[in-house]
Amino acid sequence: MCGIVGFVGKKAAAPILLDGLSKLEYRGYDSAGLAVRDDNNNIEVVKAKGRLKVLFEKTNGGESLPGCVGIGHTRWATHGEPSETNAHPHVSGNSVDDSDVIGVHNGIIENYQELREKLIRHKYTFYSQTDTEIAVKLVDYYLKKYNVGPIDAIAKAMVRIRGSYALALMFKDYPGEIFVARKESPMIIGVEGGETYIASDVPAILKYCRSVYYIDNLEMARIKAGNVEFYNLDGDIVEKEVTEIEWDVEAAEKNGYEHFTMKEIHEQPKAVRDTLNSLVKDGRIDLSGIGLTKDVVNSFSQIQIVACGSAWHVGMAAQYVFEDLARIPVRVELASEFRYRRPILNPDTLVIVISQSGETADTLAALREAKSRGIKTLAIVNVVGSSIAREADFVLYTLAGPEIAVATTKAYSAQLIATYVLAIEFARVAGRLTEDGAKELIDDIYTIPDKIEKILDDKDRIQWFASKYSNAKDVFFVGRGIDYAISLEASLKLKELSYIHSEAYAAGELKHGSISLVEDGTLVIGLLTQDELFEKTVSNMVECKARGAYLMGLTSYGHYEVEDNVDFTVYIPKVNPHFQASLAVVPLQLFAYYITVAKGYDVDKPRNLAKSVTVE
Ligand code: G6P
Repeated sequence: MCGIVGFVGKKAAAPILLDGLSKLEYRGYDSAGLAVRDDNNNIEVVKAKGRLKVLFEKTNGGESLPGCVGIGHTRWATHGEPSETNAHPHVSGNSVDDSDVIGVHNGIIENYQELREKLIRHKYTFYSQTDTEIAVKLVDYYLKKYNVGPIDAIAKAMVRIRGSYALALMFKDYPGEIFVARKESPMIIGVEGGETYIASDVPAILKYCRSVYYIDNLEMARIKAGNVEFYNLDGDIVEKEVTEIEWDVEAAEKNGYEHFTMKEIHEQPKAVRDTLNSLVKDGRIDLSGIGLTKDVVNSFSQIQIVACGSAWHVGMAAQYVFEDLARIPVRVELASEFRYRRPILNPDTLVIVISQSGETADTLAALREAKSRGIKTLAIVNVVGSSIAREADFVLYTLAGPEIAVATTKAYSAQLIATYVLAIEFARVAGRLTEDGAKELIDDIYTIPDKIEKILDDKDRIQWFASKYSNAKDVFFVGRGIDYAISLEASLKLKELSYIHSEAYAAGELKHGSISLVEDGTLVIGLLTQDELFEKTVSNMVECKARGAYLMGLTSYGHYEVEDNVDFTVYIPKVNPHFQASLAVVPLQLFAYYITVAKGYDVDKPRNLAKSVTVE
């Protein structure tokens, strides 16, 4: 949902801003823009519709914009179509030359209409359809009305604005400074070597600095070269601790892979291993570091998992694992539904929210809803210091490293592992598993990284199959139990990347309607990793075959009888059936990847999507 960068220092700002935006392009990529202030205090704004490379070319890699202070933005349209006019930065006048305030924004201003009318009454005119232009003009209005400085003017605007925002603003009368404000939308500030960096997310500044500050909700900051001061809404200074970022720089680069998606698919063994190592000591689970002691675990008698997108799919798989191993009731719900449903939550419920970014608006709202009712919350999050991580009672970090491709792969895999470990611990504490039984399962999970490597070694076969199906119109994924949960993720990966319509169905449900869509040649992919459900799902697949479907089966080595019924088989190594999702998803990620590349689409940045969805 839009990416913001800013820089104040001694070096040329524009190339640093463009480089930062290139790391944030996953947040939005329909247009981009820069505002840079030169040594004579002239501010120049350049904007371009389309991918960042258009802006890059237009500014000659930033060279045509000299100056050491600047802000930049990559947009994912909410208010107003993608166009050069609607692209950020926006200005308080009609053009940059007659403007005192210039800014970029991430988020949504909900009462923009009311604010727009107010500003029109005060003789402001508008050139764009964005809510951002309103925010910039509102700050300008307070600046002049009360004849105050930027911090006071921004604070007054913040009190009036409803919605979410991360704002970075330059003021004509304050050279060498950038002012930022935040409510709900993420923003970090890094200080290193006498220079200061602003960004929506860590990868944008990883190359330049490791020491970052997290600006909190309803706070502002005044940024100078090598220095930052934080303020609350009253204009009082707020002290903050610096956080050191441990991600390495290579983690945010492609490292020889053609696409981030493929790189991240290959990083799954590491993501799984690192996450596991952080939760297991000497072969035994140890969650004391995150506050989940035996007594705490014992105090919960039900679990509610809340998440969006693929993280919700993790929850769908986890519910089978939790209920089966720990015999604790689990409900899984989409965060966007949970937050408005007035959920009934008993005091002994643990709400688990799962989120890669830790910033997804609906998931964050669901977390707050649970907390406001005094319910304990556990966040499974990848991004350190993100809003969800900071607000949850307990935080379990997945160690997937920065995930850049819009469609998640390695974070999904790391999240699965986290839920397995939790389920085993709940089962152990509840006396459903002995110490040895728990250890055996952990040992089994430790085999997953090598088994993923083995699947990746065999990827050519998937590539061949994908090339045959790149023209498919519809694809169905079917499975039962955990296989159904895997189907949901596999189907989402395929449709979001390749734009091929696909659906995931609980295999037994297909004949209650969707089977009427099966025609000659329709590809039906059956997930067959659960031994007790194997035959049932094969029967459902055969029902499709009788209506002309082409069948692909995905099962574990040993189930060679599947070849009697299906047309193409993918075999994966065996692991305890509770954990099969971790292996089964990999060939299906590859399948979606190869089909997308064969069709010539941008696999790292599918149309209309953003990685971090900070609006509801
Ligand atoms: C977006 C991404 C998905 C992700 C979902 C939830 O839609 O494209 O890959 O699963 O958001 O994001 P989160 O950061 O909360 O895991």
